[in-house]
Amino acid sequence: MIKIAPSILSADFAKLGEEIKTIESADYLHFDVMDGVFVPNISVGIPVLESVRKITDMVLDVHLMITSPAKYTARFAKAGADIVVFHVEAETTENISAAIGELHSMGKKVGLTLKPGTPAEAVLPYIGKLDMVLVMTVEPGFGGQSFMPEMLPKITKLRQMIADCGNSSCEIEVDGGINPETAALCVQAGATVLVAGSDIFSKTDRAAQISRLRGFGR
Ligand code: DX5
Ligand code: ZN
Repeated sequence: MIKIAPSILSADFAKLGEEIKTIESADYLHFDVMDGVFVPNISVGIPVLESVRKITDMVLDVHLMITSPAKYTARFAKAGADIVVFHVEAETTENISAAIGELHSMGKKVGLTLKPGTPAEAVLPYIGKLDMVLVMTVEPGFGGQSFMPEMLPKITKLRQMIADCGNSSCEIEVDGGINPETAALCVQAGATVLVAGSDIFSKTDRAAQISRLRGFGR
């Protein structure tokens, strides 16, 4: 079953609580954290996550687009994240392994994510321990960009790598430029979780768009 993760980056932050109520039929709530250094944009952080945690039971899928993420992963977990996803490019091997262990010991799920220029093999040393791999299908930093179809072979390769290591519960999430058309391509390639920001929040009937994406546009 395909999971849908609306990105609240495209929501109206002045009425975030009401906006979240409109997407509660989805599977995960995707929470984008940007530090203005790892990516050229700044979004929201720990205090906002704590407030969101208080008003919804949705699974909080926190995507950290920050430098040295291992310094902060436990704090995001304590603030209410259920899944903590950080960039493989942003940390040392030692810190990545330590953060995975720490988050698991806290009962959280862990994902690693790849910028478009980073090959699938970058997550190979960790893949047996991951709950999720997030393939960025745009350059991280902004909502509303166009999907990069050249990322599709990376999804297929990761699907094979996951099968080869026997970690069948590891999800493949895609993020950036997802709409019913590109969702179908990603699912065919092996994605199981679809992040969508502008495609959902631009619609008046968000529940209907979430259902449409689940059926990958068909
Ligand atoms: C981009 C973020 C995405 C973004 C997706 O760096 O990680 O989650 O909100 O937005 P859309 O779906 O509009 O491309
Ligand atoms: Zn994201």
